[in-house]
Amino acid sequence: MKQVIFAEFGGPDVLELVDAEAPHPGPGQVRIAVRAAGVNPADWRIREGQILGAHPVELPSGVGLDAAGVVDEIGAGIDGVEIGDHVFGEGSSTYAEFAVLSVWAHMPEGLTFEEAAGYPSVVETALRIIGQVGVEPGQRLLVSGGAGGVGSAVLQIARGRGIAVIATGGAANQDYLRSLGAVATTYGEGWVERVRQFGRVDAALDLAGSGVIPELVELVGNPQKVVSIADLSAPEFGVRFSGVAGSMSTALAAAAELISEGNLHIPVEKSYTLAEAAAAHIDSRAGHTRGRRVIVI
Ligand SMILES: NC(=O)c1ccc[n+]([C@@H]2O[C@H](COP(=O)([O-])OP(=O)(O)OC[C@H]3O[C@@H](n4cnc5c(N)ncnc54)[C@H](OP(=O)(O)O)[C@@H]3O)[C@@H](O)[C@H]2O)c1
Repeated sequence: MKQVIFAEFGGPDVLELVDAEAPHPGPGQVRIAVRAAGVNPADWRIREGQILGAHPVELPSGVGLDAAGVVDEIGAGIDGVEIGDHVFGEGSSTYAEFAVLSVWAHMPEGLTFEEAAGYPSVVETALRIIGQVGVEPGQRLLVSGGAGGVGSAVLQIARGRGIAVIATGGAANQDYLRSLGAVATTYGEGWVERVRQFGRVDAALDLAGSGVIPELVELVGNPQKVVSIADLSAPEFGVRFSGVAGSMSTALAAAAELISEGNLHIPVEKSYTLAEAAAAHIDSRAGHTRGRRVIVI
């Protein structure tokens, strides 16, 4: 099969498209013929050797965590899935023609593989941090960086729970943020005052890691009501850094339900082939993805 690997840590040029042995599922796993793999910032962070604590890597290594595809081998001890089923979920080395998933769910009706591959990690993250920041229906949540994958999930899940959201984003994403139910404003010069004009803020999420933790604490008035997923300096300000993933099976079930009800839709900004994986990483790393980027096989 064709697979994207890297044999040393480094820039996008360490990615290679090679012929490799297809993997086989162990107990509790399934193998899929991958139709699409989600591109996450974690993918290029792992490739650069940034987050080896959370994601230990043995070189050479495959790339990719999220995927959607067609089940074609089933490991021991599994019920509820058959060869030919369409599933989305999380595994390893998903930028490949075949990959093993350790957590999966059936794809909701009407969803394309390309769209489905975009949901797993960002929905897990969104559910986790909305829970950790402890924001309740009727309260107002500030989201720094609302237009990316995690932001798109956070905004829609919060809207569904009756939480009002103020989101920051670039000028080109203001209408997009509003379409997800948020009150929107741009980041950059004067943003704190613009947010203040919208009234009280009960909690805040830092998704962009753009060095705004002190301002988020100032706006909320309590560091315990601020959570960051992207700024490792957060604890210096008494703010929680959320880095340990929660339950992926819960997240996939929630995603399937929200998508089926029409309450969650994350657009795919751009699709790439396996041979274009380096371009996908360069574009993701540039930091202005609207929704998701996906590798289509
Ligand atoms: N700790 C964890 O568990 C965890 C889990 C998932 C992701 N993450 C991290 O969280 C971050 C976001 O992930 P993602 O998948 O949502 O990334 P993404 O899809 O690449 O989105 C990044 C978003 O940040 C926005 N942005 C860029 N500069 C900004 C600024 N100064 N202020 C506000 N927004 C800004 C961009 O919007 P504009 O185009 O509007 O600028 C873009 O939509 C990444 O750093 C990722 O590594 C951490």
